[in-house]
This record gives sequence, C-alpha cells and structure tokens, in this order.
Amino acid sequence: MKHVAVVGTGYVGLVAGTCFAETGNQVICVDIDKAKVEKLRNNVVTIYEPGLEVLFKRNLREKRLHFTTELAEAMESCDIIFLALPTPPGEDGSADLKYVLGVAKEIGKLIKSYKVVVNKSTVPVGTADKVRAAIAEHATCDFDVVSNPEFLREGVAVDDFLKPDRVVIGSSSERATEVMQQLYEPFVRQGNPILVMDERSAEMTKYAANSMLALRISFMNEIANLCDKVGANVDMVRRGIGTDFRIGKHFLYPGVGYGGSCFPKDVKALIKTAQDYEYNFQILKSVECVNESQKHLLVQKIEAYYGGREHIAGKKFAMWGLSFKPNTDDIREAPSLVVIHALLEMGAEIVAYDPEAMGHVKQIVGDKVTFASLAEDALNDADALIIVTEWNEFRNPDFNSVKKRLKHHLIFDGRNVFDNHKMKELGFEYYSIGRPT
Ligand code: UGA
Repeated sequence: MKHVAVVGTGYVGLVAGTCFAETGNQVICVDIDKAKVEKLRNNVVTIYEPGLEVLFKRNLREKRLHFTTELAEAMESCDIIFLALPTPPGEDGSADLKYVLGVAKEIGKLIKSYKVVVNKSTVPVGTADKVRAAIAEHATCDFDVVSNPEFLREGVAVDDFLKPDRVVIGSSSERATEVMQQLYEPFVRQGNPILVMDERSAEMTKYAANSMLALRISFMNEIANLCDKVGANVDMVRRGIGTDFRIGKHFLYPGVGYGGSCFPKDVKALIKTAQDYEYNFQILKSVECVNESQKHLLVQKIEAYYGGREHIAGKKFAMWGLSFKPNTDDIREAPSLVVIHALLEMGAEIVAYDPEAMGHVKQIVGDKVTFASLAEDALNDADALIIVTEWNEFRNPDFNSVKKRLKHHLIFDGRNVFDNHKMKELGFEYYSIGRPT
C-alpha cells in the first residue's frame, strides 16, 4: 500500500486518484477550487465518466479517498505526488506550464522526506527537468521527478486506467522506478508491459501517440472525401486496409473531424516543439489543416444540397449529438459548435439533442438554439436531421416515427451511423461521409 497525493482533481486527476484508491492505496486529492472539493467530500462526482461513480463512492466510504484544498496537508504523509494539472495551450500553441511549475515550487517548500513527484499532465519534452529545477529551488530533502503520461480516453477512462495497454514510466532514478512499478503492478496483471525509459522519451511518447492517432483520422477523412468524389465506399476501403495487421482496424473511422481537449492541443504543441528546435513538422501541420476543413464538411454538404447558403435561411434543422464524441459531456473543440455557428450565421433554426452535453452548449449559444429533451422531439417539423456525434441511442431509431416527424426525409450524417443502402430502401435522402448516396 502506498500513500498517494494527486494534485488537480480534473478529469485525469480524479480518475487516477479513484483508481489508485481502488487498488488499496491511501489517496489524497488536492484542488484549489473550494467548491469542487466540498462537493467531492460530500460524495458528488464532479465529472461525467461512465463507471467512475461506483468506484468513487466506494473508496470515499471506505476512507481510502480523501480531498483537501491544502497542499501542505497532502504532502505530510504521501510517498508519491502526481501532478494532474491543466496545461492550456498558449497563443503560440505551446503548453502553458504555469500551474505545473507553480505547484512544483510549493512542493519544494513543503516536503520533508523523500518523495517521487510524477508528471501526469501532458507536458512538452523537457518539462521533467523544469519541474525538478522548480522543486530544487527550495527543497531540503531528496526527491525524484518521473514522467508518467496517461493514455485515457474520455468515456472509457476508468477501464483504460484499470487495464492499460502499457504503462510508460520516464525515470532516471532506480529508487523512483521501483516505487512506480510497485504502484502500477496491480494494473498490469494480464502481462501488459510497464515500459521504463528516460523522461524525455516518455514525454515524447505521449505526443507521438496522440499525433499518430490524429494523423490516422485526418488521413481517413481525406480518403473518405476522395471516395465521395470517385464514387468509392469508405466503409469498404476501411475494412480493406484495416485487415492488414500492419495497419490495424482502430481509429480509421472518418467523420466531421476530431475534437476534444487532447488531439487538437497536442498536435499544436508538437508542431510548436518542433519549431522550437527548428524542425518543420510538415505532416503534422497538414493533419491540423485537414481537421479544420473537415469540421466544415457537413455544412458544405448542406450548402451544396440547397444550392447555396442563401437558401438555408429559414430552414429548420434537427441536430443529434453535440459532445465531441459519445459518452462524454465534453464539448471542447467539438465539431458540433462549428456546424451550429455556421448554420446560425446563415439564418437557419436549430433544435438540438444530446444525452449529456446540452447544458454546456447552452452556456455558449444561449437561446439561439432550441434544446429538445428527447432525440425524437428534436425532429418535429425539421427540414433535415444532422448527426454530429455517434451516441449509441441514435443507432437504431424508429425510422417510421423519424419519417413522420421530419418535414423532409433528409439526413446529413457526419459519423456514418446508418447503413447507406438501408437508408435508401427506407426512403431517406441520406448523405454521409465517403459513401455513395
Ligand atoms: C485521446 C486518446 O485516444 C487517449 O489515448 C489520450 O489519453 C487522450 O486523448 C488524452 O491525451 O488525454 P480522447 O480525446 O478522450 O482520447 O478521445 P478519442 O476517443 O481518442 O477521440 C478523439 C477524437 O477523435 C473524437 O473527436 C473522435 O470522434 C475522433 N475519432 C476517433 C474519429 O474521428 N475517428 C476515429 O476513428 C476515432
């Protein structure tokens, strides 16, 4: 059993803290946000993440999970300190380290015995050295700094944390490596590897992984766009290439572009890192560029259908899905926002539905969009349905009812949710991504 402190109770911190408690450790999570800490202490989970609530409540009840606003309190008894702090992108795309380095300095002042300080946030190559230097300014005892990037996906974060494909530990200290290996041992029982490497390689691994995945998506989006032009079906092409084991079948789904708090930010940050080292990361610049255009694709299809933007004014659209992907309420960099803004600008009316994200979108768009309390209700009297996020509940609707409610049997699907042949049989005009209409 270890004593673990997690600084930052955002998405990564809360999942990590809860999962470390779940494997028998004593965990104390620190956050400067008093209201949030109060809620967490009172058994309220502050993020939406499937599977988290049960673990959170159990570990809170069994007193393995604690919350405080005082960093000093957390530093008293812990062996390991995880930094799970925000690293927002600055104007030039580089990750802003003010929170990470600020806390590192405080840690240096507070620690009185050996600690392993772990960078869990996604941070640029070289940050472990900066954190070490910030702690060393005031530290009077030994400590080590380790890089331990996380590879969680929103929506399946608990599963990803409990059963990781691999754990990456960037460490140049044997003592720290051993502590980390002991902590992670319960998570890799099936034999998945704990990969120990130097700190810079660990930091780079995180950016390389996210950039490679973003690249796959942008590549498939371009293939889909070309399929549209040449009359090929991207579903077939995806299967055709995904069965080659060197390519693999994951992350080959075209759509309206990737969003979220990770890919867009990390792609930008790696381009910036490359620039700092006078390297022109050409392929990644294209990945970003392709994704920006892809977010406009649905609107372009809608414009083309109506024969120009001037014909969109006064049209009413039902929109299914607002979050950047299913199973999350997160709308950061969500393609839905691009679609909403473009259609509103053209004078269209939008009635939207999303199982989790409507509150967040309402905060941005206010009364300009109407929100329906059920997916079906959004359809009433709409000129067309637009699908932006592939929530499971959209996959098998009562098509008769969809037809009755829509004014025209017209669907623009940005996530290829339905079978295009079936839609034709059912009598819909159905436009998707990279598949024949
Ligand atoms: C991503 C990575 O998958 C995680 O491994 C990583 O830990 C995380 O970023 C992070 O850095 O914290 P996440 O942003 O939660 O996770 O979401 P993904 O499931 O990766 O999806 C990202 C975006 O790509 C979504 O907008 C999704 O719709 C899109 N996507 C995904 C596609 O358009 N096509 C695909 O085939 C797969």
